[in-house]
Amino acid sequence: HLNLLGKREKAIYGTKSLTVINKDITGLAKKLAIDVKIVQRNSEGDILDIIQKADYDALIINPAAFTHTSIAIRDAIAGVDKPAIEVHLSNIHTREEFRRTSYIAGVAVGQISGFGAFSYLLALHAAKNILSKK
Ligand code: DQA
Repeated sequence: HLNLLGKREKAIYGTKSLTVINKDITGLAKKLAIDVKIVQRNSEGDILDIIQKADYDALIINPAAFTHTSIAIRDAIAGVDKPAIEVHLSNIHTREEFRRTSYIAGVAVGQISGFGAFSYLLALHAAKNILSKK
């Protein structure tokens, strides 16, 4: 439901729309000299297809509610030999018990959770750092 950011549960996810967040991401990516491609999908199958394509050097992913349910997304990430960074706007560890389990964390380089939209910008810095070591 990340397409509804700015309208949905604002107290938890903030007031910035996905369009505004994406502009911030694109702006920082430019500064860091990273080519960024942003995609948002509500369907798990579409997300699997995007991960499998692997036409990227690093994956920054907010798996939203699929974080807590999707072995399929975990397996897709494990199956491509690319570093993945897991991102959440909210701190999934301070919320409901069921959000503390991430199927993605075990196949990610790391998890950034709780900094609002800034989590995505932190993830870009992390991606830059990972790729500069290659
Ligand atoms: C989320 C946290 C998830 O638990 C939730 O289902 C989301 C958003 C976050 O960014 O904080 O949809 O991934």
